[in-house]
Amino acid sequence: MVSHVTTVAFQGVEAVPVDVQVQIAPGAVAFAVVGLPDKAVAESRERVRSALLASGLSLPPKRIIVNLAPADLPKEGSHYDLPIAVGLMAAMGVLPADQVLDYVVLGELSLDGTIAPVAGVLPAAIGANALGKGLICPGKSGPEAAWASGDMAILAPRSLIALANHFKGTQVLSRPDPKVREDGGPLPDLVDVKGQETAKRALEISAAGGHNLLMVGPPGAGKSMLAQRLPSILPPLSPRELLEVSMVQSIAGELGEARLSARRPFRSPHHSATTAAMVGGGVKARPGEVSLAHLGVLFLDELPEFNPAVLDALREPLETARAVIARANHRVNYPALFQLVCAMNPCRCGYYGEPGHQCRRGERCATDYQARLSGPFLDRIDVRIDVAAIPATDLALPAPTEGSREVAARVAAARALQTRRFADLNVPARTNAECGPRLIEEIAAPDADGARLLNDAADAMRLSARGYHRVLKVARTLADLEECPRVGRLHLAEALAYRQAGPRLALAA
Ligand SMILES: Nc1ncnc2c1ncn2[C@@H]1O[C@H](COP(=O)(O)OP(=O)(O)O)[C@@H](O)[C@H]1O
Ligand SMILES: [Mg+2]
Repeated sequence: MVSHVTTVAFQGVEAVPVDVQVQIAPGAVAFAVVGLPDKAVAESRERVRSALLASGLSLPPKRIIVNLAPADLPKEGSHYDLPIAVGLMAAMGVLPADQVLDYVVLGELSLDGTIAPVAGVLPAAIGANALGKGLICPGKSGPEAAWASGDMAILAPRSLIALANHFKGTQVLSRPDPKVREDGGPLPDLVDVKGQETAKRALEISAAGGHNLLMVGPPGAGKSMLAQRLPSILPPLSPRELLEVSMVQSIAGELGEARLSARRPFRSPHHSATTAAMVGGGVKARPGEVSLAHLGVLFLDELPEFNPAVLDALREPLETARAVIARANHRVNYPALFQLVCAMNPCRCGYYGEPGHQCRRGERCATDYQARLSGPFLDRIDVRIDVAAIPATDLALPAPTEGSREVAARVAAARALQTRRFADLNVPARTNAECGPRLIEEIAAPDADGARLLNDAADAMRLSARGYHRVLKVARTLADLEECPRVGRLHLAEALAYRQAGPRLALAA
């Protein structure tokens, strides 16, 4: 007899159904798992055997074959333990085979028969719901699964015995509740930043339109400080976005205590990060920083210290909003729509361009340092600003009256305007930064004065086509912040100024 259990394989954040077929037949004693399993899946056998034994069930001395179908779909990860064990228990008559069919099953087994949490429970639950099935998942992952739908059946047992008891009716499992993470304390606030009005305005603009930002300035100017305050002015995730972000975190195994948070992701990987860490991949297919920053911010501090190859690997996700990872015999892709924020010193010694400062190596100090950034990479950054060291007199000033709350309100208003505009036009974009070239030409068409300025500047600055469209996007955001329906000359002039960057970055690109 063959018993069937449904589980899933992950392709990006999508859960593809996998049929686990278990056959116990007379013949030489064996226990084999077939169907393109990776090493972790092959090791499943040992864990399943021990966990069953610990639960008081020994495998019959027969020929046991487990087939994971479709066989050509690669299967990675340790979540196949539980479906295989459930299939065996159904084949042995310990669990009702017909009822088990109503569920998608995933989970890892410990040798003592307890069920350990696995990555990807949320996407699996959403996939199960789409198939019209319930979900059986590890106890600790229950709250995460409960997010998928308010009414699907979810069983989150802590052990194989608890699962068996549930089906026997001796100890029925209750449905887990979805949990939201108490957002750990207040975020750092913009009131802490004295002076730096230009930088604060640039931060507000990039938050409002989702634009990529680069800050260049001497050490101690407050660049890192400003970037860390970006989350405090970004609007919270909408319920749909929350689910999208959590799917990626779930696949990466980063959903802390299975609770979801409405805060936008803010990732700041160290400059020693590898391409695999940044874009995804590695031994196990896993989302990288660009995907963990999906719908949030990727902050690269000390930008030129990153490996140039790693930075260039960001170019594609920046353009397509997806991270594609090639595996041995297939490809996976994860969403990666993020806002890039970078900070850097202008040169190795840090003070190039400071009034009265002479780098010991002269111009070379800055040219060599900035040469680590490629032109095409910089071309993708819309707002580039010079952050000058702040004078001691500014530091002695009282705290600014305006903090993150006021700025966040303006950002939210500008974002609401964008959302409404895109909804009216029936396009899936959320922010101006996300617009395609045709769309931005349409919604940011400048008035006559503005058009003349843009054309002259495009020639003089030798803007690339991408640069031209990115200037339009920033100008659209500037108009949105003022609730102007039409992009005017002043908006374009300011947007062009951000494109040009300050004197400290003059050597790049
Ligand atoms: N504009 C400012 N207002 C108040 N404190 C500042 C300001 N700029 C810098 N600081 C102080 O200097 C420290 C270093 O700033 P930081 O952001 O790390 O500089 P950078 O990243 O530009 O090298 C901050 O932690 C803060 O205490
Ligand atoms: Mg810093």
